[in-house]
Amino acid sequence: MTEAGSDLNIKGLNVEFTKGDYTVRPIENLDVTVKAGSLALLLGPSGCGKTTLLSCMAAILRPTSGSITYGTTEITSLSGQQLTNHRRHGVGVVFQAFNLVPSLTSLTSVENVAVPMRSAGVKARVARHKAIELLEGVGLGDRLTHRPNSLSGGQQQRVAIARALALDPPLVLADEPTAHLDYVQVEGVLRIIRRLTDGGRVVIVSTHDDRMLALADQIIEMRPNFLPQDDAAPKRLEFSAGQDLFRQGDPSDLVYVIDDGRIDVVRDTQDGEVPLASFVAGDHFGEMGPLFGLRRSATARAMTDAIVTGYTAKGFRDLVGPERLPAMIRGR
Ligand SMILES: Nc1ncnc2c1ncn2[C@@H]1O[C@H](COP(=O)(O)OP(=O)(O)OP(=O)(O)O)[C@@H](O)[C@H]1O
Ligand SMILES: [Mg+2]
Repeated sequence: MTEAGSDLNIKGLNVEFTKGDYTVRPIENLDVTVKAGSLALLLGPSGCGKTTLLSCMAAILRPTSGSITYGTTEITSLSGQQLTNHRRHGVGVVFQAFNLVPSLTSLTSVENVAVPMRSAGVKARVARHKAIELLEGVGLGDRLTHRPNSLSGGQQQRVAIARALALDPPLVLADEPTAHLDYVQVEGVLRIIRRLTDGGRVVIVSTHDDRMLALADQIIEMRPNFLPQDDAAPKRLEFSAGQDLFRQGDPSDLVYVIDDGRIDVVRDTQDGEVPLASFVAGDHFGEMGPLFGLRRSATARAMTDAIVTGYTAKGFRDLVGPERLPAMIRGR
């Protein structure tokens, strides 16, 4: 098993889900290296794939393709005993809150922290002793026998951190550890998280709170990245019949107005492509992605040779007038 002091390497990672009748690709061609002893922040809005990426690192979820390697361990291809070992000793995962995990709410702080040690075969007395030490380490020495429902959110979060550290994993993952905390609680949790990289651990924390930026050695930006060209002038673009303007799951960049030709919008589903709409000269389409920072929810394809003008979100707002946008969005 990989020891602390190793780098984490993500190469060509893709995750695709089929949800009922459509397909989403929250992670597409992700390449990232996180150096030993550093704290990386996964930053991005809801649904951008933060929990999905953490689940792949924890070996709870297998990606569609690509690899995550920690030191000499290729996490994404583990199986059998090695998989069990990674989940138990290789990685510590900080749950969002105990109140989301019913089996843990009836246990005291000490019992909660001891659970992973007990299931790894550590003797009860030794596990209890280590649990107390860990809880003291996160400032909860006076909350040892409390159950989660009599702890504050910040205290619960610190129990969760102590629990994730029980078997001293070299890789620690925390999913939105500061969500739902007030500023006093956040401060305590941030300090503890920052200290976790001691000894060469790799620590990955997801958040959509960009106040956490100052904490990190590295930012892994998961939001679709198209804002830099927000001020760009409209572009005239030509497509030939059969060509895709954009594909479902792509980051969104432009809103299109058709000058000539026909564009169909189709959605990938379990049963293949389903037509959603058809547009001709004078129509516009593809405004939701750029306006709201979402990926494309469908594919746009030229059905004839076509000429379109592509506007940035700002350009499109200026074109139609900001006061007309809400009605336009409601109409679709
Ligand atoms: N098991 C699953 N089956 C189907 N779709 C899933 C599954 N897990 C996640 N998704 C989808 O993948 C996308 C990314 O989800 P994910 O939970 O990783 O986002 P997130 O960045 O953690 O969001 P949040 O900030 O709301 O926690 C979403 O569209 C989500 O609905
Ligand atoms: Mg999440």
